[in-house]
Amino acid sequence: MATHKIAVVGGDGIGPEVIAEGLKAFEAAGVSTELTHYDLGGARYLRDGTVLPDSVLDEWRNHDAIYLGAVGSPGVPPGVIERGLLLKMRFELDLYINRRPFLLKGDNGHDFVVIRENTEGTYAGEGGFLRKNTPHEIATQGSVNTWRGAERAIRYGFELASARNNHLTLVHKTNVLTFSGDLWQRAFDAVAQDFPDVETDYNHVDAACIYFVQDPQRYDVIVTDNLFGDILTDLGGAVSGGIGLASSANMDPTRNAPSMFEPVHGSAPDIAGQNKANPIAAILSGAMLLEFVGEQAAADRILAACNANLDATGSTTEIGDLIASAI
Ligand code: IPM
Ligand code: MN
Repeated sequence: MATHKIAVVGGDGIGPEVIAEGLKAFEAAGVSTELTHYDLGGARYLRDGTVLPDSVLDEWRNHDAIYLGAVGSPGVPPGVIERGLLLKMRFELDLYINRRPFLLKGDNGHDFVVIRENTEGTYAGEGGFLRKNTPHEIATQGSVNTWRGAERAIRYGFELASARNNHLTLVHKTNVLTFSGDLWQRAFDAVAQDFPDVETDYNHVDAACIYFVQDPQRYDVIVTDNLFGDILTDLGGAVSGGIGLASSANMDPTRNAPSMFEPVHGSAPDIAGQNKANPIAAILSGAMLLEFVGEQAAADRILAACNANLDATGSTTEIGDLIASAI
């Protein structure tokens, strides 16, 4: 049996609590792991100013995967941890796919997946200030869209659609974003030529928000840009049983660098340390990690145990124990 080298970042707030339950599930599923724990996040930054040293990134390159709880603490200025840790990780390791699955409760178990482009768009950091702190201040925040970046996310979407139910929806705002939307639409049409069996659809992002609430069954796989994907996946969490169930994979499908797996929810400082957070999103993210490193059977068992207990109530550790025993 292979031993998987996993870098673990519990992080801040409820992060370490939910990751502990995810690791409990790994153990229950009988997978062999070698864990390296990293003390990173808002609390570490406030203590000694460390965010994400390049030496840590280099160490991670020698791991098979990264398992992250949540990062962010009150008192840290906006952007420091987001850009300096999370986005740095996504960009430097080129984790260009953010895969976020959703399972609708009580709707015949309909599930759908959002593929969010994870390295470009308005997240890229293009822009700046002119005449800052004057009455004539200007701030710009450009959206960076490369053909290669859009194409590889779209291609992953088509490949996933082929492996599922042959249906892929592009979500964008082509009626207004006539430059970036045009590039995305043309890249989508070009890649579609390679997947003649995949039925395609297109929704503007504002309309997609209505469908997420009123008719999510229309979706199977969605591909979209970074910012639209960020917003839509919070909505996806809200319509599918709550953000406490929403899992995600930040992936380099080429396996050049280790992929990173994290719940969609944040550090929730208001309930930290109270054994209150739902660990299922973190456990499901762990199942995606195991699937990615080749432990399909263990991942399936964890997924089944979670799906059988989506309505579980109780403390973080009680829910974790319940799922561990179901595994
Ligand atoms: C997410 C989060 C991050 C994002 C933040 C914390 C930078 O909201 O993973 O969805 O915007 O991508
Ligand atoms: Mn988000």
